Amino acid sequence: MAVDVSELEATAHKMVDNGRGLLAADESTGTITSRFEALDIESTEETRRTFRDLMVTTPGIEQWIGGVIMYDETVRQQVSDGTPFPKYLDSRGIVPGIKPDKGAKPLQFSEDEKYTYGLDDLPDRLEEYYELGCRFTKWRTVITVDEEQGLPSRYALRVNAQNQARCAAIAQNQGMVPVVEPEAQMKGYHSIQTAFHATREMLYHQFSELVEQRVKLEGMLLKTSMVMTGFDSDLADQAGPEEVAERTLECMYQVVPAAVPGIVFLSGGQSDQTASANLNEMVKRGPHPWTISFSYARALQGVPMEIWGGQDEKVEDAQKAFHYRARLTGAARLGEYSEDMEAQPGDVVSVEEQEMVAA
Ligand code: G3H
Repeated sequence: MAVDVSELEATAHKMVDNGRGLLAADESTGTITSRFEALDIESTEETRRTFRDLMVTTPGIEQWIGGVIMYDETVRQQVSDGTPFPKYLDSRGIVPGIKPDKGAKPLQFSEDEKYTYGLDDLPDRLEEYYELGCRFTKWRTVITVDEEQGLPSRYALRVNAQNQARCAAIAQNQGMVPVVEPEAQMKGYHSIQTAFHATREMLYHQFSELVEQRVKLEGMLLKTSMVMTGFDSDLADQAGPEEVAERTLECMYQVVPAAVPGIVFLSGGQSDQTASANLNEMVKRGPHPWTISFSYARALQGVPMEIWGGQDEKVEDAQKAFHYRARLTGAARLGEYSEDMEAQPGDVVSVEEQEMVAA
């Protein structure tokens, strides 16, 4: 089957151009259940549907959100008016996407490393997801970073890069844009220098494998981790937004080909504010060869989920909180974010958001 590169390219651009980025609403049932349980929210098919429904039906978010990554369950569900999620997103000008990987498992012959599985029946599954309306995929590999053990190993980097590229090649042949997500683990005690080397090595192997497997770089997006000090290090030792931006960009410039339309960063457990500040610093240092944007789960969904708490009467407040965070993340995506935009307790934000959501 001939791959229509220009169509893939157009989809990739639609997802991240014009100040937009991605909402990662693709937690597996296990992951969203633990997030719900931490907030005392019961996890059922219906509560998971309700949460995803309230997020995507928030008025006005298409200004900042160009694509939504979904999990298998959501792709088959409907928003409250009965429209299937993919069709609903498409009607809002937001590209629907699917995470088809089946998670990370222990990597054989390596103590602390993982590989992502789910390739076996991928062509058939992607054909069905395409029919259901999905136009991009996201495949995540997790790379362990451990200074003492000298990880990541070349072995783990190669295996994961190969699997990732397999998914990308299959996706493009199905007419879907692969969002290639190699993530260098951000928790741990490592220095920013170690994160830099691990990320550069990881992306070097990733792109060499993508090229080897003939993936069209113009028709994909890279999703990856920012180069940061390990999250378990003392706060005082953590690099600030300027250093994070400089080291992350230095790394990207060394190994990410200019043919790639966009790099979207994951939030990885950073606070909402830090995720916005770091993104903002990177964009401000542009123009870059690729669009720099976001693909956040926790840094966009955390507060709305907490506010909602599983209660119907809190849906509107949760939507205001999402609208607010999407607006600030959108400002960072343009390099126009500043800390004074952040809400102070009891601040005007709720009023402002109320008006914007009502508009
Ligand atoms: O695969 C990772 C998620 O799509 C991004 O989640 O922003 O919470 O790290 P995060």
